[in-house]
Amino acid sequence: MGKHYLLLASLLIIVIAALAAQNQTTTTEDPSSSFLGSAEGNSQAMINQGRHIFRSDTFGDEAFWGGKLKLHESINHLTPNQALNLGLKVDSAALPSTVVQAIQSGTVNLNDPAVTLLLIKLNAVLGVKGFFNENGTLRSVGLTCAVCHATVDNSIAPSIGRRIDGVANRDLNVGSIIASAPNLQPVVDLLSVVHPNITADQVRAILRTWGPGKFDAELFLDGKAFNPQQVTNGVVTRTHVPGATLIPNARGLSGHNLHTWTGAWGTVTYWNAFVAVDEMHGKGTFFDERFDNPEQFPIAAKARLGHISTDPDSDRVTKKLAPLHFYQLALPAVKPRPGIDFDPDAAERGDELFSGKANCNRCHREPLWTEPGWNQHTPGEMKIDGFEARRAPASIGPQGKPVHGYRTMNLAGLFVRERGLFMFPRDKGRFYHDGRFKTLLDVVNSYDVRFNLGLTDQEKHDLIEYLKSL
Ligand code: HEC
Ligand code: HEC
Repeated sequence: MGKHYLLLASLLIIVIAALAAQNQTTTTEDPSSSFLGSAEGNSQAMINQGRHIFRSDTFGDEAFWGGKLKLHESINHLTPNQALNLGLKVDSAALPSTVVQAIQSGTVNLNDPAVTLLLIKLNAVLGVKGFFNENGTLRSVGLTCAVCHATVDNSIAPSIGRRIDGVANRDLNVGSIIASAPNLQPVVDLLSVVHPNITADQVRAILRTWGPGKFDAELFLDGKAFNPQQVTNGVVTRTHVPGATLIPNARGLSGHNLHTWTGAWGTVTYWNAFVAVDEMHGKGTFFDERFDNPEQFPIAAKARLGHISTDPDSDRVTKKLAPLHFYQLALPAVKPRPGIDFDPDAAERGDELFSGKANCNRCHREPLWTEPGWNQHTPGEMKIDGFEARRAPASIGPQGKPVHGYRTMNLAGLFVRERGLFMFPRDKGRFYHDGRFKTLLDVVNSYDVRFNLGLTDQEKHDLIEYLKSL
């Protein structure tokens, strides 16, 4: 009797083990062949590393921001109120609960610079990494990707809450932050290639024209601070417009061929290498011979910004590009909630218009919201000026001719900007690379005129509800 039970029990174990083994082979690769690795294990490791790099890695750029510009000296005197007004965000998860309670009950002195230093020390200020003296003041400061490309959900107070990677910080006044640095001589030296007598005060004035949510990466390549004329459908809408572009979201980007506003630079990983090395001034390697063109990129050509080489042992960027790339592509677009973020009935009617009468789907192809394939259009096709497009390298167009263009921008997660994130309306609105349209209605009105769509007010309303549903 006992023997039978034993047999039955061991049979069961064998069956279970066999089933488990089968299960494993269908969901993962053969665990015995460790030289193949596994997609699951690899992706999890890449995401963990990429998230850490995105949030915390300065790539050694403190040698520039602290070492050269002395930015930490102004941060030593920055009150928390001033920091929040510059658009810096505070991650509540990095704060001890006593500090969170004190913020909520209003007993933290937001006019005391020592509080700012404490927040930085706790790694609670998104994208700002402090290096401290023994007396608690900053000795240097570095920046990470998160300073521009992350925000918070305002759950504790405006600009204080849980961190959200990849949503652009459209409050951040990058220009004013850089302008506050005591030593702008390194920036003066770069710009003097194009503007021989430029002073630090003139550089500060240029930086302060950018305003919240914008950065001008190309300024340090071509020295062009202003678009002489913003033109939409043949009409000059503004003159002398700051050349800075809006910080885009780093979410919902997988499947897109070209990235950034113009598309002409390359993909996410191209742009990451460029920004980490040439803009953040991390210690790394970056190659692009297109920068050697002295007419288009006088500064970059002279400073040889397309030929930055660091030996592999000291390179703090290159080995991080793969996980950083992977993490960004893994971040999904923020999902709108029916009935809260958009009106579902109107959105359904808008869906018909999007691929029908309004013909938006011609370029913003559902469900990628850009073209599968070559996702770039000339200023002429877009019926807007080509200032920003011409600042980027040319692509090869029809008949092998060089053309400059704008990338068909991602539309997923657009509602965040129409509403303002989590009911904190400061970062509301602004669309197109230079933010020329304040609201989605302005965008749709402009398409209506530029492409003679003949949309009625009701149709515009429905189309906007659809855009908010993406
Ligand atoms: C000082 C602010 C700032 C910092 C720091 C910064 N970026 Fe950006 N990022 C921008 C701006 C502005 C653009 C748009 C550039 C353009 O198209 O002219 C951009 C573009 C991008 C894009 C393209 C998005 C799209 O829709 O195609 C990605 C991805 C990105 N950045 C990731 C990163 C990563 C990763 C880092 C860190 C290595 C980083 N950025 C650092 C401001 C910043
Ligand atoms: C010919 C191709 C094309 C068509 C047609 C088109 N778009 Fe676009 N769209 C673009 C490009 C290119 C951009 C980026 C412009 C820039 O860089 O400033 C863009 C940007 C946008 C943006 C701003 C995104 C942002 O993050 O700021 C919105 C919103 C938008 N389009 C909605 C629409 C709607 C609605 C329609 C139909 C009425 C439409 N588009 C038709 C190519 C197109």
